Amino acid sequence: MTEKVIIFDTTLRDGEQVPGCQLNTIEKIQVAKALEELGVDVLEAGFPISSPGDFNSVVEISKAVSNPVICALTRAVKKDIEVAAESLQFAKKKRIHTGIGVSDYHMRYKIKATPEEILRRAADAVKYAKKFVEDVEFYAEDAGRSENEFLARVIEAVIDAGATVVNIPDTTGYCMPLEYGSKIRYLKENVRNIDKAIISTHCHNDLGMATANTMMGVLNGARQVEVTINGIGERAGNTSLEEVAMIIKSHHDLNLETSINSTLIYKTSRLVSNLMSMPVQANKAIVGRNAFAHSSGIHQDGVLKKRENYEIIDPVSVGVRESSIILTARSGRAALNHRLEMLGFSYGKEELDDIYHRFLLLADKKKEINDEDIRILTGQVFQGDKSVKLEHLQVICGKSAIPVATVGLNINGEIHTATSVGNGPVDAAFTAVKQLISKTVHLEEFLIQAITQGSDDLGKVHVQLEHDEKIYYGFGTSTDIVTASVEAFIDAITKIK
Ligand code: KIV
Ligand code: ZN
Repeated sequence: MTEKVIIFDTTLRDGEQVPGCQLNTIEKIQVAKALEELGVDVLEAGFPISSPGDFNSVVEISKAVSNPVICALTRAVKKDIEVAAESLQFAKKKRIHTGIGVSDYHMRYKIKATPEEILRRAADAVKYAKKFVEDVEFYAEDAGRSENEFLARVIEAVIDAGATVVNIPDTTGYCMPLEYGSKIRYLKENVRNIDKAIISTHCHNDLGMATANTMMGVLNGARQVEVTINGIGERAGNTSLEEVAMIIKSHHDLNLETSINSTLIYKTSRLVSNLMSMPVQANKAIVGRNAFAHSSGIHQDGVLKKRENYEIIDPVSVGVRESSIILTARSGRAALNHRLEMLGFSYGKEELDDIYHRFLLLADKKKEINDEDIRILTGQVFQGDKSVKLEHLQVICGKSAIPVATVGLNINGEIHTATSVGNGPVDAAFTAVKQLISKTVHLEEFLIQAITQGSDDLGKVHVQLEHDEKIYYGFGTSTDIVTASVEAFIDAITKIK
């Protein structure tokens, strides 16, 4: 029989506290609704005592979503607990998450209290929270570096005080997987009343071991995992939801399951990345741009023969339309032929050899060969919208100004102009371009990179557009980042047939 692992999402608390990731209440509600649709069991909505904004977000999220348990974080402080309880007043299912540091470092240098005092404050906080809600989770902060024996005493005391879930955070991301796993096992074997509570993992990624530690926790008896979308969170982040959900889904031998609807993973990842302006690294497991992209000839050939040769996850199962074959100088004939077929061309062996020879010459000069290059190689130069060029661009933006952009496009020799407002200069410019073209396009990805380091250097923009369920890529470079963005946008548009 499979056992359920509870998914506790802390994107809106541990994730959102990262500098630059702050969301307003409306955006938090959007993320909370997406997390509810994704199927998370517990949603940590914020740390209500920390600011009126956070308090209000917990109130509004409690009203907006009904399936997940809504959780609010507190310190082991009465006032925090009272404010958290108040913020949860509209939640259909509610939880208070309270706790205190239990490592020597935290007790000695942060809290400056004796272990006995910590033990008392931990139990008192849980008892106090119980006056307001039935479901109380206790976190033993920095449990990863704490003495197992003392940790076990604290956990026993808080369960006696009524804790329903006991969270064992590796707050600093220090533990090795075996060490973290055996800590959970130690608690399972040495805490008298451990069967009365669910053990939760909360692992940080400072040494890149958050997911491994979480899984070791689960293998040793934890049945709740604290995770974030894209692994965002303090410093190097938290365990990522998508990784744990897909490990459990892929490894049937574990006899575990989660309530996550995996086909919504990619969409949720994009939403969080876009709203928090936090790009996902290209090689990030499950949701990175390259997670299902194959570029070496050997791999491309293998994947074209049978996808499973080089993919352990079907991209469709996480909401990615299809795997991609990136054409570079390392691609073989099989990959080139596959792309030619996708573009509607069919060649015999000799013709293919000839195109492949020219393909390699071009690929040595260019990093990546796109569909337009392929058409040129075959002699079938694509006309389409290629005659769209950026003629002029003017933007007004700045603090307290409403961003406005005026764009002039040369379309088939005629100049067309449009003006639009937006939530920033790039958004305003893209909206103006959309007014001038006849196609409906959706921006799926937008990435800005500085090519070098000075503020006067070139910026490179990569965009990914969707039109009629197909994806088009565009690039632009300029010392002016808005111009580079519009050039990239137009570059992608001109590739649409
Ligand atoms: O990392 C940590 O210890 C935390 C707790 C507040 C749960 O985020
Ligand atoms: Zn944390």
